[in-house]
Amino acid sequence: MALIKTLQFLLILFLSAQSFAQDEEIKRSDFPNHFFFGTSTSSYQIEGGFVEDGRGKSNWDVFSHIPGKIKDNDTGDVADDHYHRFTEDIELMSSMAMNAYRFSISWTRILPKGRFGDVNRRGIIFYNKIIDNLLLKGIEPFVTIHHHDLPDELDKRYGSWMSSQMQEDFVYFAKICFEEFGDRVKHWITINEPNLVTLMAYIRGVYPPAHCSPPFGNCSAGNSDIEPLIVMHNMLLAHAKAVFLYRTHFQKKQGGSIGITAVGHMYEPLTNHEFDIEAVDRALIFNFAWVYDPIVYGDYPKEMREVFGSQLPSFSKTEKSIIKGSLDYICVNHYTTLYTKDCLHSPCSNGGDRPIKGFLDTTGYRDSVSIGDPTGVDRFFVVPRGLEKIINYIRQRYPNNPIVVTENGYSMPPSDGKTLEDIINDTKRVNFHKNYLASLVRAMRNGADVRGYFVWSLMDNFEWIDGFTTRFGLWYVDFQTLERHPKLSAHWFASFLGGNLHQLTKSSSIIDKKKNTFHSLTYD
Ligand SMILES: *[C@@H]1O[C@H](CO)[C@@H](O)[C@H](O)[C@H]1NC(C)=O
Ligand SMILES: *[C@@H]1O[C@H](CO)[C@@H](O)[C@H](O)[C@H]1NC(C)=O
Ligand SMILES: *[C@@H]1O[C@H](CO)[C@@H](O)[C@H](O)[C@H]1NC(C)=O
Repeated sequence: MALIKTLQFLLILFLSAQSFAQDEEIKRSDFPNHFFFGTSTSSYQIEGGFVEDGRGKSNWDVFSHIPGKIKDNDTGDVADDHYHRFTEDIELMSSMAMNAYRFSISWTRILPKGRFGDVNRRGIIFYNKIIDNLLLKGIEPFVTIHHHDLPDELDKRYGSWMSSQMQEDFVYFAKICFEEFGDRVKHWITINEPNLVTLMAYIRGVYPPAHCSPPFGNCSAGNSDIEPLIVMHNMLLAHAKAVFLYRTHFQKKQGGSIGITAVGHMYEPLTNHEFDIEAVDRALIFNFAWVYDPIVYGDYPKEMREVFGSQLPSFSKTEKSIIKGSLDYICVNHYTTLYTKDCLHSPCSNGGDRPIKGFLDTTGYRDSVSIGDPTGVDRFFVVPRGLEKIINYIRQRYPNNPIVVTENGYSMPPSDGKTLEDIINDTKRVNFHKNYLASLVRAMRNGADVRGYFVWSLMDNFEWIDGFTTRFGLWYVDFQTLERHPKLSAHWFASFLGGNLHQLTKSSSIIDKKKNTFHSLTYD
């Protein structure tokens, strides 16, 4: 009975996905043929298998095991159990006709103790299987080398990103990735969101290593005004040195390309006062250009140098020469647009008047009215025009660079997702992607050279400090049974891209039968 009901429900979902497809204004043919449509994930958020096959302990293993750090005290020990279910998960992508997939490599699966220990071959075998299975399905791998999870060993030894030694460790890790996977991986992203890491780990102190100081937070160590500048500097130089290595030893032979990705919110002035309008520029500079000006032009924005003086680290002449131009494309993770309020000319609380914040506050509300529909993440609102605007900004500030949207996605507010049927019937997520894709098309018609669009995320997963309470997936994951179910949005993408998801879900047993068995390649 329950099964019949589920099948009926899925059929209704499928039919509504069809009708969405009919009255929508966005088509696959609005994008170039070779455009990449993919989903995005990261190792710690989906893999689980945290002590298996020689994987070492990461900063997130340690942190998530401290009670009180993660919602419901959850951890990524199991997460989506992707470590054992990756073949099924690749089927999910394939059923939606996605032609690309962005994932990250768990540093401690490859190097359990960074460069202070051996290479773990079993980790390399795992990623070889993923890459080979993707390619078998015609799915292009986009590989993030480092996405938040790093060896605990490096935190303990020298404070990871607070030390310039981390540059050497990162390059050591990147080299192994290029050597082992670069024959098949043609799209690399060195580091995920250094600007988010500085904010969450070293300003607010809510990600490991939980460094901060008042008024930003209440940590046992840290300095929210200074440490973010040092951490960013080390991350940028680690990126630049890895790109230098790739270009001098691998790129010619392997023929791939490489970049980095930053989180790029868009901003609009809270009022039409010129000070709030100027604060929009500062917000973009102090959050986004902080990452990309050095990488494109070889130095930090002059506005930041003026404010921070010698507190902002400097690049030596040699460093400048390797960081400048150290990218083949600009990647951006875009989720929201926020209002900016100037704090240079009028007082603000909570650190908005600090240099590290660019002397401004951001908010999602003007006179209690939100800038767009609220989502399941505090301060993320649905503002589709923001994607066009941030792409325009990138195109104008950094002309002649291809652009990839490496993350864009929607999490449903808990109040909208009361039952499983509500969560799966995610019409708001469908509209989110339709409207953001339409906005992306406008940016491309303005002249932006956009090469790909990646949905965050393939499936519900461990959303860092939100644990499993925030669901971004196109596929629903039952965290008790670990079964995956397509949401309406998965059906929508399948129908948008010409996939065959209907067949996959009509007989859900296909998934179980095929679990980890369809790949025919052998590994030793
Ligand atoms: C998480 O752990 C802390 C400390 O042991 C405890 O006080 C809290 O109630 C736990 N929270 C949940 C949701 O279990
Ligand atoms: C900061 O932490 C201390 C000690 O744990 C506590 O007494 C204080 O209330 C906290 N302050 C804030 C603003 O959270
Ligand atoms: C899905 O939700 C929409 C409203 O957002 C509603 O009109 C529709 O009937 C729902 N479909 C199913 C199958 O529950």
